[in-house]
This record gives sequence, C-alpha cells and structure tokens, in this order.
Amino acid sequence: MTTVRIEASRAYDVTIAPGLLGRAGALLRPLTQAKRAALVCGDRVGPLYAGTLQGALEQSGFAVSLKVIPHGEAYKTLETCGEILAFLSRNAFTRGDLVVALGGGVTGDLAGFAAAVYQRGCGLVQVPTTLLAAVDASVGGKTAVDLPEGKNQIGCFCQPLAVLCDTDAFSTLDARELRCGLAECAKIGLLFDRDFFFALPALARERRYEEIVARCVAYKRDLVEKDEFDRGERRLLNLGHSFGHALEQASRWQIPHGEAVAAGMAMIARAAAARGLCADGELDAILALLAALSLPTETDYSADELLAALEKDKKREGDTLTLVVPRAVGRCELLSVPLAEAAGWLRDGGAR
Ligand code: GLY
Repeated sequence: MTTVRIEASRAYDVTIAPGLLGRAGALLRPLTQAKRAALVCGDRVGPLYAGTLQGALEQSGFAVSLKVIPHGEAYKTLETCGEILAFLSRNAFTRGDLVVALGGGVTGDLAGFAAAVYQRGCGLVQVPTTLLAAVDASVGGKTAVDLPEGKNQIGCFCQPLAVLCDTDAFSTLDARELRCGLAECAKIGLLFDRDFFFALPALARERRYEEIVARCVAYKRDLVEKDEFDRGERRLLNLGHSFGHALEQASRWQIPHGEAVAAGMAMIARAAAARGLCADGELDAILALLAALSLPTETDYSADELLAALEKDKKREGDTLTLVVPRAVGRCELLSVPLAEAAGWLRDGGAR
C-alpha cells in the first residue's frame, strides 16, 4: 500500500493499493462523523464495483444510498448534476454526510461538484476506478461540469476527505481506457521526469500500476501544495490540454480525453519544435513514446475548427492564452501567447 499525503487547504491522503474497495469503510471511518454516504457511480462501473464498496461502507456503519448516472463525457452536464443534487435532497442528506464518487473522471468531476455545492458543501471521497482518474482527476480538488459551449466551464475547488485508489479496478478497463490513462502519465513524465517518461511502456506492460499512480500523484501533490487554486505553476498540468480540450469539443466528445491530451501534447511539441523552442530530437522522442503507447499524435481537424473551442479555454485571459510548451522531455514552460497567434500554433502543430 502506498500513501501520498496532500497538504492542501484540507489535508488528505491518496491511498493506492490493490483490494482497497473492500477496506474503504475501515479507512474512512476514522476521518468522519458522517452517518450516511451517497454512492454516486456510472452505469458501467456500478454493476462491477458498487456492491463491494457499498458492503464495505455499511460494515463500518455508513448507511449507503446508491445513485447511478449515465456514463460518458456527454453526460457531464448541469442536468446530470441537478439529478444528483435532487437525489441528495430527496433522500434528506445533510452537509455532515458524504458523497462518494466511484468511477472515472466524469463521475468524479460531477459528483465532486454536487458535493461542493449541496447545502454549500458536504464531505467528498474520491474512489477512482480508471487509471486516468487515479493519476489526475481524483486528486487536487478540481470539480467540473461542461456546457454545450465548452468543457469544464462550471466548477469549483473542493478537496476530498480522502482518495482511495484500488488498482484492482484497472483489470476491467479495456485497452483503449488504459491507453487514455497512460496519456496522463506520459504528460507527467514529459513535464518532470525523463526516466519515468521513457520507462512508461515497460511499467505499463508489467502492470506496475501502484508505482505508476504513486509517481504521478506525488508530482501532482507538489504542484497542488504550491498552487492549489491554479493561478501559477499548477497550470503546467495543462500540458496537452489546450489543444486536447479543443479536439474533444470539436469531436463532440467522440475523442476520449486521454487520446485528445496525447494528440494535444504531440501538437504543442511539434509547434514548439517549429519555433526552435524544442530540439527536433526531443520532438521525435515524444512522438515515438506516444506511438509506443498506441496513442494518437495527429489530428484531422482544421485550425479554424479548433480555434472556436480555444476561445472558450479557461486558460485564456483576455486576449492571451497560456500554453504549456515542451523544451525537452522532462522540462516544460508556461508561455503566454496572444490569441491572434493561436491559429499559427495550431497549424504548426499539425492542424490543417
Ligand atoms: N487536471 C489538472 C489539474 O488538476 O490541475
């Protein structure tokens, strides 16, 4: 079992181990006086894992109510969030109770936002079941809902009481879902850790997930502790996300987040190389690593199609966009770019 302590405005542990779902109640009981837990999960994850988690919570004295929501980014809407809030209210949950988000990033973002605003905030526990949610979305307290106009346009920070990552849950992910998680791991390597970046294909082949998640979460912890509210260095975690979010949105959520981030990292690396900010050999290494993980490195979208989404990017301030630019594997920088130059960056990145 590995524990990473996050000292944010609320301090909490991210616990990573196989078999954690069955021990969830015992791990949470010392952290809260809550009597009730609303277990929120997607309709694919529910049949796989909700029973085990519910049983474990009940054994430790939590009365559990189950709320199943439809899966997929297309449902990360105010409407689904409203259903969760109505469920909490109908079932007379109080702010002393817990919302337990079981699933991937969509469930964590949605249930997290509901927990943050229900009666101005009740307890939240994140139980990620995907590699992607384990290494990124479940840690650091970001919650979000999409609008038709743009991804993650609504949200707030709500640090959980705990994050419980049961690596056994990754055994039911298909190859594509695993690849999407590895895209976020590659992002951490590209940002901070050259050795980890190049070791990823082997670590993944050997299914050394506890080690992979712990390494990624430890890097994320360092940024969250320095910049919890995402005004400074934490924005490095947006590597690949400006162009990635634009791809997701342009595809109407048909391109999954991890693939979009991978293509977004390839695009920004290509654009950086075109501007002499990153050596060609480093670009080749980045593209080769993404290809070795079977992740996309190209896009069919035009710069015009992606620009509309970039204008909605939360990372935009006025007429300036903050891009995360690779200088070398393991070293990236924040760069302010006038929005008027964004089309050029997209084209240099490979957009038509
Ligand atoms: N997903 C990026 C962050 O948590 O800051």
